[in-house]
Amino acid sequence: MNEPVAVSRVAAESKDCITLHFEWERHVSPGQFVMVWIPGLDEVPMSVSSVGAEKSITVRRAGEATAALHALSPGDRMGLRGPYGNGFDLNDKRTLAVGGGVGMAPLMPLLRTMYADVAIGARSADELLFEEEARRYCDTVELSTDDGSRGMRGNAVQLAERMMDEGDYEQVLACGPEVMLYHLFKACEERGVHCQMSLERYMKCAVGLCGSCMLGRERVCIDGPVFDSARLRALPEFGRSKRDAAGRLVGL
Ligand SMILES: Cc1cc2nc3c(=O)[nH]c(=O)nc-3n(C[C@H](O)[C@H](O)[C@H](O)COP(=O)(O)OP(=O)(O)OC[C@H]3O[C@@H](n4cnc5c(N)ncnc54)[C@H](O)[C@@H]3O)c2cc1C
Ligand code: FES
Repeated sequence: MNEPVAVSRVAAESKDCITLHFEWERHVSPGQFVMVWIPGLDEVPMSVSSVGAEKSITVRRAGEATAALHALSPGDRMGLRGPYGNGFDLNDKRTLAVGGGVGMAPLMPLLRTMYADVAIGARSADELLFEEEARRYCDTVELSTDDGSRGMRGNAVQLAERMMDEGDYEQVLACGPEVMLYHLFKACEERGVHCQMSLERYMKCAVGLCGSCMLGRERVCIDGPVFDSARLRALPEFGRSKRDAAGRLVGL
């Protein structure tokens, strides 16, 4: 059931991302998501980017629903249901966290609670997310931008490969565009590094009923969104195709 929740504050994060903070008395684990209802418009999935007493979602402007979320001010309300999904398996392995674009959002609750090195990737410097906050919690934070405007010139996978070759990581935790995750998964497989990756699929119900989020035999809303290496190996669609709003398989 949707609960009306008032926005307590809004923070500008990057060229196209904001964070909406709100009080919500629900327990949320790092990596879980909520369904956000914008009255009269749409209901969309969003990862929870802070899971303490004050919670938040970090929203990249994509289309109509996310533009409406960008227009909210403190005191405005949105509808929330959830939290949904499995979240990350938290452990004390030597960890590299890799976030591409708004994929940093579900990683932030992890970085506040466990020790990890971090690779943050974006297209350009003004799209890098959460660099300053990551530096508060983590000793090693490295950046990449496609255009070379900040950090290493290249993508987050190239940066993560370099860090894995120089470091001694037991696991990679990641979120970002699926093509990035697919290549990162291959890089982890080549190096024998275990991974947990948060995937996105088109979601309508978020409770396992409608089938719109099917990925092979898995329903990303309840069986994911986080999949580990063994489960990723068994997903033929991973990195290749997804389902559109009508349920048709389309190439990534
Ligand atoms: C588990 C999960 C967690 C997510 N976390 C975040 C997050 O933390 N921050 C963030 O900015 N975005 C997140 N997204 C993506 C976000 O849901 C879409 O960007 C948003 O729904 C776009 O809606 P729109 O109306 O603004 O754009 P539209 O123009 O309607 O869509 C733009 C693109 O967004 C995707 N999309 C649209 N509707 C849905 C839907 N119901 N379910 C899944 N994808 C959709 C499609 O790929 C579409 O091509 C997440 C998606 C999932 C599945
Ligand atoms: S969104 Fe309906 S089954 Fe996953």
